[in-house]
Amino acid sequence: MPPGLSFTFCRLTWAFTMRSPKQPAKLAMLLLLLALLLLCNGVGCVNDTTIHENSVDRKALLDFKKGITDDPQRALSNWTTTAHFCRWNGVICTTTPQYRVSVLNLTAQNLRGQISPSLGNLAFLNLLDLSYNSFVGTFPVLNPLQQLQYLFVNNNNLTGTIPGALANCSKLLSLDFSSNFLVGVIPPELSFLAHINYINFKSNQFEGSIPDDLGKLSNLQSLLLGDNRLSVNSRVPS
Ligand SMILES: *[C@@H]1O[C@H](CO)[C@@H](O)[C@H](O)[C@H]1NC(C)=O
Ligand SMILES: *[C@@H]1O[C@H](CO)[C@@H](O)[C@H](O)[C@H]1NC(C)=O
Ligand SMILES: *[C@@H]1O[C@H](CO)[C@@H](O)[C@H](O)[C@H]1NC(C)=O
Ligand SMILES: *[C@@H]1O[C@H](CO)[C@@H](O)[C@H](O)[C@H]1NC(C)=O
Ligand SMILES: *[C@@H]1O[C@H](CO)[C@@H](O)[C@H](O)[C@H]1NC(C)=O
Repeated sequence: MPPGLSFTFCRLTWAFTMRSPKQPAKLAMLLLLLALLLLCNGVGCVNDTTIHENSVDRKALLDFKKGITDDPQRALSNWTTTAHFCRWNGVICTTTPQYRVSVLNLTAQNLRGQISPSLGNLAFLNLLDLSYNSFVGTFPVLNPLQQLQYLFVNNNNLTGTIPGALANCSKLLSLDFSSNFLVGVIPPELSFLAHINYINFKSNQFEGSIPDDLGKLSNLQSLLLGDNRLSVNSRVPS
């Protein structure tokens, strides 16, 4: 308990004893203290710096780090618990408490490994840039990240398919998966991304046809699909 709170507690107890020692009053006292306690937490009475480090975000980042098998440029060398994660290389946080990860940008750091699904726990993530590394394996299914607008994982060694659940990150504006080894179809769910304006899936091994409904996305300005195995009669939907 922070010192300010115990002080308040003592003073009120004293005031109470002086006035009336009856039972109902005691109960009222207890309720008042409980209310104070709740209020205190709400208005930030508790001044403890560790409280401003969100443990969900820290764990998500450390789990992501566990997926990295090779870091020749020591890009993640200052991702240690001695520093607040907002000061780790590549991490930018929201500017007000609780400081949450809003940007993770580790472009061109020669990182090798898998992209951990733990990134889906960064609920305030707005921009994820892991482009120009050597990430392998599939792009994970992330929780619906309601703040995510920019997702760049181009120029890696990703394999497998793009999860349709990506469309649950409903605020997405820009998606770049170009220059990987991705297969399967272009997920039709992407046509639910009402705000999307840029999709780059160039230079992969996508097959099938281009989902018709992509053409209904009124904000879509660039749809780059070249150098894939899309079916011959596929046309960019109008
Ligand atoms: C907490 O206290 C420290 C020093 O006592 C002060 O520098 C800091 O600004 C305080 N933080 C908040 C959020 O009030
Ligand atoms: C970690 O490294 C980055 C990039 O070099 C630097 O900006 C940041 O201040 C470092 N953080 C700490 C806690 O040393
Ligand atoms: C990521 O950081 C690099 C270098 O710091 C910068 O050039 C690039 O524009 C950033 N990515 C995004 C999407 O802002
Ligand atoms: C990524 O793909 C490139 C080009 O095929 C290859 O040279 C490189 O060794 C691959 N890296 C990894 C980590 O798989
Ligand atoms: C995405 O949304 C669909 C439809 O609401 C739901 O069935 C699915 O479980 C969601 N996926 C994730 C990863 O949240």
